[in-house]
Amino acid sequence: MSLPRVEVKRQMGRGDIDAVSALLDVAAAIDGHRALGEHQWLDLVQGGREGFAGLVAWEPGHDHPVAYAQVTRGVADGSWALEFVVDPHHRDRLATIGHEVVGEAIAIVGAEGGGHVHMWVPKPTPAHDAIAEAVGLRRGRELLQLRRPLPVDDAHRYGSEPLPVRAFIPGRDEEAWLEVNNRAFRHHPEQGGWDLETIKNREAQPWFDPDGFLLYEQDGRLAGFCWTKIHRDVAPHLGEIYVIGTDPDFEGRGLGRRLVLAGLDWLAGRGLTVGMLYVDAANEGAVHLYEKLGFTVDHIDRAYVGDVRAKLDIPHRN
Ligand SMILES: CC(C)(COP(=O)(O)OP(=O)(O)OC[C@H]1O[C@@H](n2cnc3c(N)ncnc32)[C@H](O)[C@@H]1OP(=O)(O)O)[C@@H](O)C(=O)NCCC(=O)NCCS
Repeated sequence: MSLPRVEVKRQMGRGDIDAVSALLDVAAAIDGHRALGEHQWLDLVQGGREGFAGLVAWEPGHDHPVAYAQVTRGVADGSWALEFVVDPHHRDRLATIGHEVVGEAIAIVGAEGGGHVHMWVPKPTPAHDAIAEAVGLRRGRELLQLRRPLPVDDAHRYGSEPLPVRAFIPGRDEEAWLEVNNRAFRHHPEQGGWDLETIKNREAQPWFDPDGFLLYEQDGRLAGFCWTKIHRDVAPHLGEIYVIGTDPDFEGRGLGRRLVLAGLDWLAGRGLTVGMLYVDAANEGAVHLYEKLGFTVDHIDRAYVGDVRAKLDIPHRN
């Protein structure tokens, strides 16, 4: 069977955005998650920034794209993020279509000077491993998505009293929160090193709700926090523990457990029946904490990583 025709877009027009949005919606309904992260989605709809390319794959006889891939160069470190999705109705040809769009995306990275690439894949299969290997990427970090039913039963509360938390106040709590967050995540590649702009940006997102951003103070200072995020665009609706941390001065005193419980109780109070969170598979302490609270692995997200060499010209296949 023939290869799909791949259009490379440096700027997405209205028609492209609509066609790709429809593809992302179809895939999300089947997969239970969005193929593009928050940043990547904004890159797509705002479009056209330097280091952006959208790759739309078409096949004869279909008036919708069969796949979409996107590469974006990170502003901070110049490394490349790559995501791709194949229409669920065309996944019998996942290996072929995926290889084609991902291969084109890697060629663009090479033509633009090369660099480090990370491609996050939710629920990777051996076909994803094969696509990655074929374009020279290897397995990197893994994130576990854990879930547990809500509300939390007494057996998982270990008799702990509810923590007296309060809601985050925008415009007032940023500085104290940034300090604790950056101390808690000092060894973390993405969650450490946030600045005022990063948090202000999150506060501007439609999902942001300060009432679900819980702070716990002790001895007159912020000791820990549990920030939640509600996803109502997937089935079942998910109540996420979005970011959680304790100040290192307060670690190991049972605060982490009580903060998770406070977040889960808040989510249950909003009618959510499934609690969810992501944790780095290598973060043994946190994984242990969540498993004791009754979370189990729903699926794994895997990063495929590699360094792409600079190439002088893009191969023209169309
Ligand atoms: C993960 C974190 C929130 C845990 O908070 P904490 O207040 O130290 O945890 P607790 O005292 O409530 O401990 C709860 C359980 O986890 C275990 N635990 C916590 N940190 C651990 C570690 N580093 N290694 C092994 N076990 C650990 C505790 O032993 C305890 O288990 P137990 O009941 O079997 O004894 C905190 O360490 C933190 O902020 N880490 C940095 C940020 C982070 O990784 N957040 C999670 C991202 S998903």
